[in-house]
Amino acid sequence: MSKLIINGGNRLIGEAGIQGSKNSVLPILAATVLVKGESVIENCPLITDVEATVKILRYLGCKVKREGHTVTVDSTDADKYDIPDDLMREMRSSVVFLGAIIGRMGKASLSTPGGCEIGLRPIDLHLDSIQRFGVNIKEEYAKIEFETVKPLEGTNITLSFPSVGATENIILTACMAKGTTVIRNAAREPEISDLADFLNRCGAKISGTGEGTVVIEGVERLYPSKHRVIPDRIVAGTYMAAAAMTHGKIHISSVIPAHIAPVIPVFEEAGCDISIRGNDITLTAPPRLKSIKTVRTMPYPGFPTDMQAQIMAMTTVCHGTSVIIETIFESRYKHVSELLRFGAKIRVDGRMAVTEGIDKLTGASVISSDLRGGASLVLAGLAAQGKTAVDGVKFIDRGYENIEGVLASLGGSVTRSERNEADGAGEEQV
Ligand code: EPZ
Repeated sequence: MSKLIINGGNRLIGEAGIQGSKNSVLPILAATVLVKGESVIENCPLITDVEATVKILRYLGCKVKREGHTVTVDSTDADKYDIPDDLMREMRSSVVFLGAIIGRMGKASLSTPGGCEIGLRPIDLHLDSIQRFGVNIKEEYAKIEFETVKPLEGTNITLSFPSVGATENIILTACMAKGTTVIRNAAREPEISDLADFLNRCGAKISGTGEGTVVIEGVERLYPSKHRVIPDRIVAGTYMAAAAMTHGKIHISSVIPAHIAPVIPVFEEAGCDISIRGNDITLTAPPRLKSIKTVRTMPYPGFPTDMQAQIMAMTTVCHGTSVIIETIFESRYKHVSELLRFGAKIRVDGRMAVTEGIDKLTGASVISSDLRGGASLVLAGLAAQGKTAVDGVKFIDRGYENIEGVLASLGGSVTRSERNEADGAGEEQV
């Protein structure tokens, strides 16, 4: 298991390009199952969740080529409709293949995607919605079987919660269903608009993504196309938080300002100066951050839950008391116990976390247990005095491409040490 070794205290100053969006590329790669022929997806980040997705595509019978940041998928010969348990376990968000497999094969079989560190992650909204297309669903033990006895028919769906994954699965199922599908209270995340942009390029007829009501006119067939994935707004926000916590200055190119807009006010309330020119954002941090009165995570365009851990890390060194309320996931505070090891002062009460900012964190040995929580520990290490070792880097590698390289290019002292389980060599005492 590799570790990140961080010597804290350096100001992060410089330019950072932003990788393609993990939460865009996963549903877009799944969508290629609907498209017979060779689709080319550009700006795919080099992260392990993409590797896991490629494994599933190949298992389904797709021919997949990966050249740097470009993934080419030819689904002409795809003939399987199940996702093996081990692949589902490797990445629970593989559930987004469901709509694409049903839309292409007319049936699907997958093991119930388990929960994860941040919550139980039920899929009831996915199942209830897919059933409305005339799909028979049989749940037994940990397996769920989907069968259509007649061609998929468009339908009207109102989501009780604007679930990102459920919205994506409905869109994928509806693309080639007969007739029209309307989704009300659809999720509005930019990644859903990116998925729709790809599908419309393939000949789908999807409108209204990013608003709240999405309309899909079913079509006979989709045709292969080329698509460039949007930049990752959460990765951009993460590196902005790194600069904010280290009295740094970061210039981020190729980000879409509207996508990062929900987090800008939080950085400004903390005393950062933000300037936006076209697709470039510059954040200049003050010598000491000010506290954040209240950050409440909400569905887009509210403050993103995927930035909660990173902003919490930032509040640990703000001057004063900050309050965070996590409204999306029921247990997305696993990073708190590890942040306390840096000397942070955080109290959690249900969905609310209260942080008393301190002058300086102290380096520590910590373990990440989920993707964004892991990123928050790296941020704390960058701001801390002394050395930090972050274990469990595999979680961070799920969504951040070369995190140590990007941070080092900004002046952070971050290296990856491959620790051999057997001899414990490379153990970094901190
Ligand atoms: C997507 O997960 C993202 N993952 C998550 O990013 C992100 O945190 C989340 O959306 C919210 O923005 C990908 O896009 C791959 P949801 P998803 O369905 O689709 C409940 C990251 O760090 N719910 O919008 O699973 C659910 O339990 C990851 O990049 C149901 O109750 O999120 C949660 O409380 C983490 N029933 C809430 O809705 C359902 O059927 C939001 O879930 C589905 C969801």
